[in-house]
Amino acid sequence: MTTPEITTTSATGARTAQHRRYLMCRPEHFTVSYTINPWMEPAKPTDTAKAVAQWQKLYDLYLELGHEVELIDPLEGYPDMVYTANGGFVIDGRAYVPEFRFTERQGEAPAFAEWFRQNGFDTVLPEEVNEGEGDFLLVGDTILAGTGFRSTGDSHREVGEVFGREVVSLNLVDPRFYHLDTAIAVLDPVEGARNGGPEKANIAYLPGAFDDASRATLEERYPDAILVSDEDGAVFGLNSASDGYNVIISPRAKGFEKQLRERGYNPITVDLSELLLGGGGIKCCTLELRAAEKE
Ligand code: ARG
Repeated sequence: MTTPEITTTSATGARTAQHRRYLMCRPEHFTVSYTINPWMEPAKPTDTAKAVAQWQKLYDLYLELGHEVELIDPLEGYPDMVYTANGGFVIDGRAYVPEFRFTERQGEAPAFAEWFRQNGFDTVLPEEVNEGEGDFLLVGDTILAGTGFRSTGDSHREVGEVFGREVVSLNLVDPRFYHLDTAIAVLDPVEGARNGGPEKANIAYLPGAFDDASRATLEERYPDAILVSDEDGAVFGLNSASDGYNVIISPRAKGFEKQLRERGYNPITVDLSELLLGGGGIKCCTLELRAAEKE
């Protein structure tokens, strides 16, 4: 299936919205009953109906933007399953299944594996601890891979073997930003995405979330990256979803919203305050399903 691309011209040139296919999970069993990241406080009350209503707005927006959204059934007893970014990492129709770090989430992995199999993905079971697209981000032909809190360094080698691509390891050092997708947003995932290009694939990131060596790597590889303020990082501003033009972000990330506009992107805000109580945001609730390239 080919979907027409929507090109929009801005002050800084044209950006193109690319069609996306996502996997999401309605947070019907969402709550905070354990603590595996600093955001989770079981003593604070959660409102599941509110979580579902907020999530629904994100789901509806993706459809409005012309994207496709698949759903996986939520499992009772797995309140974090709404964060489907951790359910796998998918490129070219191949799905690398997660192996969760904490027992609380380990039962999710077989459900995601089964979903991939039933939906025709070449499903690869992992040997190493990894939390899917939470820690692996595809930028151009390169996989940026996070470690320090969840996915192990060995999983970086494994993901490179599974997809036959270059992997760049990045060390996360601030426990609030325990997954790579809380510290980096991929804005232009493909080379030459911008008309009049070839524009390089580009990202936004929070410098303080990384150690010095990783920061130096990011500076060298992405000289045009948007550097996000600590203030915007701390409200999960980077945990966003971009289609190359529209960037769905938290309404609290005011500075990032402005930076995106200046660069010709179209920021759209969606409030997932309830899901932030579990330590997740927009990107965490969104897993990209990248199809095999057609001949
Ligand atoms: N409570 C979940 C956990 O700690 C949140 C996951 C957020 N997901 C993400 N892709 N950053 O595992």
